Amino acid sequence: MTFRYESVVPWGRSYEEYLRMFDLRPDDLKGRILGCGDGPASFNSEFTRRGGRVVSVDPLYEFSAGEIARRIEETRDEVISQTRCEQDRFVWDTIGSVEDLARVRMAAMKTFLDDYESGKCDGRYLAAGLPDLPFEDREFDLALSSHLLFLYTEQLSLDFHRVGLLELCRVAPEVRVFPLLDVNAVLSHHLEPILDELESSGLDAQIRTVPYEFQRGGNQMLRIRARE
Ligand SMILES: C[S@@+](CC[C@H](N)C(=O)[O-])C[C@H]1O[C@@H](n2cnc3c(N)ncnc32)[C@H](O)[C@@H]1O
Repeated sequence: MTFRYESVVPWGRSYEEYLRMFDLRPDDLKGRILGCGDGPASFNSEFTRRGGRVVSVDPLYEFSAGEIARRIEETRDEVISQTRCEQDRFVWDTIGSVEDLARVRMAAMKTFLDDYESGKCDGRYLAAGLPDLPFEDREFDLALSSHLLFLYTEQLSLDFHRVGLLELCRVAPEVRVFPLLDVNAVLSHHLEPILDELESSGLDAQIRTVPYEFQRGGNQMLRIRARE
């Protein structure tokens, strides 16, 4: 997988946001979790600190902490100014302002960076990604995909979504995906055909409302489980 440094825009959410995006309850956190496309989110670091078992995969992890930190510095102002231009696409309640957003995201990414090199040595951050994951069948209890599938509807084909989701279902009996909106805060046009595909593959796919909404209207996740 080739991932060009200049095209990377690292941006990561916090553990607390993951809990709400995926409506994770204590029982969900007991097993081994895969975070697919976790990038510089602090979920892995904070969950590990709390005694959780988690592996994150992302092509970004082919870079060193220094390279990722430099890229964050190079791109953050652009991301923030873009968000400022598109403010009405977001709900400013938990995160109160664009400045607040910058603080929250930078804090999450600092937590990630502080943990990254040691986490890499422990095998918690692996440079890999969809559509092929370097894991055995059912190596995890739960797989999470935050802000990758459906969000990048225009960049990632329907076939990539189909194959990627089946791959996640291969490595875990339960998969949760958030959000279901694309970058323009419109419901992904891949969702409907994907639901049909999952149904015909014998998987149980349900859309659930979650206690998280930052993109306006983005408070739903897809939960996929193997049928009993
Ligand atoms: C918008 S970021 C989301 C980061 C994190 N999940 C979060 O919600 O804060 C999308 C991430 O997907 C990663 N990514 C891109 N292509 C991927 C692939 N084929 N497999 C896994 N991750 C990928 C990117 O490197 C990036 O870190």
